[in-house]
Amino acid sequence: MKRSVRDLDVSGKRVLVRVDFNVPLENTGGEVRVADDQRIRAALPTIKLLMSRGARIILVSHLGRPKDREPELSMAPVSAHLAELLGDAVVRQAPAVVGEEVEKMAADLEPGQILVLENSRFEPGEKKNDPELAAKLASLADVYVDDAFGAAHRAHATTVGVAGDLPSAAGLLMQNELDQLEGLLKDPKSPFVVVLGGAKVTDKVGLIKRFMGFADAILVGGAMCFSFFKAQGHSTGDSLVEEEGVELAKLVLEDAGSGNCRLELPTDLVIGDSFSKDAQHRVE
Ligand code: 3PG
Repeated sequence: MKRSVRDLDVSGKRVLVRVDFNVPLENTGGEVRVADDQRIRAALPTIKLLMSRGARIILVSHLGRPKDREPELSMAPVSAHLAELLGDAVVRQAPAVVGEEVEKMAADLEPGQILVLENSRFEPGEKKNDPELAAKLASLADVYVDDAFGAAHRAHATTVGVAGDLPSAAGLLMQNELDQLEGLLKDPKSPFVVVLGGAKVTDKVGLIKRFMGFADAILVGGAMCFSFFKAQGHSTGDSLVEEEGVELAKLVLEDAGSGNCRLELPTDLVIGDSFSKDAQHRVE
């Protein structure tokens, strides 16, 4: 049983919350806006709980896969959208992930106010789980809450590193996802069908193997299907193919052929000549 955010005494404390605000953005007439806010809404119960308990809230998330500090992947449109959703709450956007100015903004937070840090992947140490970056993040807060289920498979500074440096707890979204998953794994009922998407087979192969042991069928969608098509010898054109995943996909297909679990690939793909350039960032 993980410690829950509900069990923490957060009144007056600075709480660093890792959220998964990796949302699609769209550019309409020069204005960048959130195109789908499902992930932001999913984090609202934790944020509202912390607000109601008088916490000083610091949110951190990655957005896309920037190679550097790419201004078009700033969290600014995301924090503006969060402010709209929360109505009269104070939501400030930090100019960076860590640093003097961010420290000052974090220290100045009043109970119930929110500070959104810049895209965590603007820091080269994020993906390397750099202990120095984790320590700087930890110094901003008294407590850490992980509510980023969608990023929980990444061992990064904002997910794993900082959790080791501060008293930590799971957020409400994280807890809910874990409870659902645990229930399904403890007591799987037939027909049990798993729908999997995403770009990378390498990320999902452990999951596929685990479910193959008892699921009736696994439906593979998203860009990941192209690694499977390539493994089957099909041409994949300009589609996104994770090359390291092709061999793994081959092995998974062999396992599926010899077991009781059906592995289904898409049969209704639409082939396009080009993609719209309006979508700035699409979640993969
Ligand atoms: C996602 O969108 O799948 C999560 O936010 C993780 O993003 P990542 O695959 O870029 O780490």
